[in-house]
Amino acid sequence: MDTQPAGTIAVFGGTGKQGGSVIDSILSRGAHVRALVRSPESDRAQALADRGVELARVEIGDATSLSGALQGVDAFFFMTTPGGHTLADIERETRQGINLVDAAAAAAVPHVVFSSVGGAERDSGVPHFESKRRVEEHLQQSGLRATLVRPVAFMDNFTYMGPSVENGEIVLRMPLPDHIPLQLIAVRDIGQISASFLLGAAKAPDGAIEIAGDERTGSQIAAAFGEYAGLPARYEALPLQVLGDNPDMQAMFRWFAETPAYRADIGAVKAIAPSAWDLPTWLRSGDWTLPTPGR
Ligand SMILES: NC(=O)c1ccc[n+]([C@@H]2O[C@H](COP(=O)([O-])OP(=O)(O)OC[C@H]3O[C@@H](n4cnc5c(N)ncnc54)[C@H](OP(=O)(O)O)[C@@H]3O)[C@@H](O)[C@H]2O)c1
Repeated sequence: MDTQPAGTIAVFGGTGKQGGSVIDSILSRGAHVRALVRSPESDRAQALADRGVELARVEIGDATSLSGALQGVDAFFFMTTPGGHTLADIERETRQGINLVDAAAAAAVPHVVFSSVGGAERDSGVPHFESKRRVEEHLQQSGLRATLVRPVAFMDNFTYMGPSVENGEIVLRMPLPDHIPLQLIAVRDIGQISASFLLGAAKAPDGAIEIAGDERTGSQIAAAFGEYAGLPARYEALPLQVLGDNPDMQAMFRWFAETPAYRADIGAVKAIAPSAWDLPTWLRSGDWTLPTPGR
């Protein structure tokens, strides 16, 4: 499918990981971006402005600011975030998404792309997945043309919850039994795929797609890190109790262990983004650096 003349693409979350990656991809294809930000004066927003991104100040609870910022755009990307794991955080995430959908409807945006989460539609019972499902449903009932992008676990999580180096060995620990494969996606590819939808270069079958670029068990993830670092590697499965008093994260890791949890069709993803990264490619991109050895 040919890319249509792009016009202006609005992005919410552009100072964050997913929105930032969407902006990278749109800019690389020569289209214009309007970023909806709460603090245009922040360093991250200013870094976007330096790259030619138009900034529109929004207040998430103010419908007029949101619909005003969406006037005249050709497509709109948004994500939502609970920003925490309490019930109040989860409710806030749903409200954030509903406000953004309502604003897009008020501004009659021609196409809305929402980055939700893999499995949102499968009654996961995970609080921060169910909040996204409520946003998905609101979007689907809005009458807007919508595309749901459902990313699985981010490879980029390993930048802060990656393996350690212990006695010359890479050691990866997660609260997930070792025989369970976990699907993974590079945030860079959430941007590539979402941008393809926003710019009309691709279409999601039935308006929704779960996206992954790799699938590995804990030992296989550890092995990829070991190979990259040139060190032996091992995986240690931890009990759910290490998540402490966090029912949201406990529900998610319990759901991960009831296979199949994430169910992206990697072949279908590659049909849209042939260069979607697997874990070794993400590692070679340099986003992860070998931590200082402990013990
Ligand atoms: N990590 C995973 O493996 C994974 C997998 C699937 C789905 N997800 C989902 O991904 C989401 C997080 O996405 P991300 O990593 O891209 O988040 P992120 O890097 O934390 O970025 C959040 C963005 O949202 C903006 N934002 C938040 N509240 C706002 C408000 N009230 N008004 C205006 N802007 C606001 C932030 O702006 P500021 O710069 O102003 O703060 C920032 O641009 C979560 O919902 C998570 O559940 C994560």
